[in-house]
Amino acid sequence: VDHFNYQQNRLFAELQPLSSIAAEFGTPCYVYSRATIAQHYQAFASAASKHPHSLVCYAVKANSNLAILNLLAKLGSGFDIVSGGELRRVIAAGGDAKKVVFSGVAKTEDEMRFALELGIKCFNVESIAELDRLQLVASRIDKKAAISIRVNPDIDAKTHPYISTGLKANKFGIDILLARDIYRKAAGYSHLEVVGVDCHIGSQLTETQPFLDALEKLLTLIDDLAADGIALKHIDIGGGLGVTYDKETPPSPADYLGKVVERLKSYPQLELIMEPGRAIMANAGVLLTKVEFLKPGQEKNFAIVDAAMNDLIRPALYSAWQAIVPLEINSAAQPALYDIVGPVCETGDFLGKDRELAIVQGDLLAVRSAGAYGFTMSSNYNSRPRAAEVLVDGEKVHLIRAREQWQDLWRGEQVITD
Ligand code: LLP
Repeated sequence: VDHFNYQQNRLFAELQPLSSIAAEFGTPCYVYSRATIAQHYQAFASAASKHPHSLVCYAVKANSNLAILNLLAKLGSGFDIVSGGELRRVIAAGGDAKKVVFSGVAKTEDEMRFALELGIKCFNVESIAELDRLQLVASRIDKKAAISIRVNPDIDAKTHPYISTGLKANKFGIDILLARDIYRKAAGYSHLEVVGVDCHIGSQLTETQPFLDALEKLLTLIDDLAADGIALKHIDIGGGLGVTYDKETPPSPADYLGKVVERLKSYPQLELIMEPGRAIMANAGVLLTKVEFLKPGQEKNFAIVDAAMNDLIRPALYSAWQAIVPLEINSAAQPALYDIVGPVCETGDFLGKDRELAIVQGDLLAVRSAGAYGFTMSSNYNSRPRAAEVLVDGEKVHLIRAREQWQDLWRGEQVITD
């Protein structure tokens, strides 16, 4: 469910026509709907609240704009971070460090120290080497690090290989078969406190079963650890719930979490943590772009637009399909099949292929489902300033990130003068 709908042939974000936003802020421009974000967050929070204790830790990597983190913090969200930069964003946005879990395979000493000083909720430890480093850093500043082991349950999430993370062949987590021994080792460290277990098996999952299979393996481990005298306080089931880009029919947060909560009935003491990113943000955002030229051809017609792979890399990187729709229905134009391509000098620079559109030069389009892994994966390739970001709240429109200026392109660079 989202708040991007046509009214009298014009596409709106909540109560604002997107064409007026494009006119005011230019293109390319990301536009997010506050009501959609809040609704998606609440869907997780309320389904999880059926368990005695729970915490939604929004995965910052999906969309890390300060205004969005601030909105989620105000709704009560915690955060899943993977870098010192993301942690600083959470703090700058008014997030609570005590609701932060820290994932990622390569945490540096500096990142560990900073997170320990802030007193984050938990480190999701992904290797034995990381356990040793965390013990060392924590002992130097005499703090105790709360840890979970991120286990790799060897489960096929049946998603795109680039975003599948729970298989033995992936770099993530610790083989679940080795986890019991490593927990025993960790429990003996002076500056670590074992508090939980964590997993994340992949992203854009459209079925519940792989999640439930992983949950089962985690619960077995929790039982084994209890037998060893290690009582965990929380279980973090990761993110990964898919969204509808095209015809996918993922379970709703209520369906998915309903099953998880049901299975956790006999574990009321465990706090349930989850790390959704995409399911909160993807369908809460669109990317606005303008048709610069139409280039008809014998084999293909191209609609060349002013957004490119540097703005939205998902189609180029994963062959991801995202809907592309006009901001205003143009009944004067003839429908035709187009490849929607950007100005970047790469054949892989496309936003969509073989799309039927009735458009002329100068028309405005929206790439849908662009709120997650859109702006955060953008770059300055081809020296293109990064897009503006706008948040709509009812009738109100807030610029939440100014379009980059030319000078931003070479900030920090220097010519050599001697
Ligand atoms: N927790 C951890 C440890 C993760 O690695 C991720 C995502 C999440 C949570 C959030 O997963 P989500 O709920 O968003 O599926 N760039 C790719 C997606 C990469 C996901 C990486 N990890 C894409 O655009 O499809």
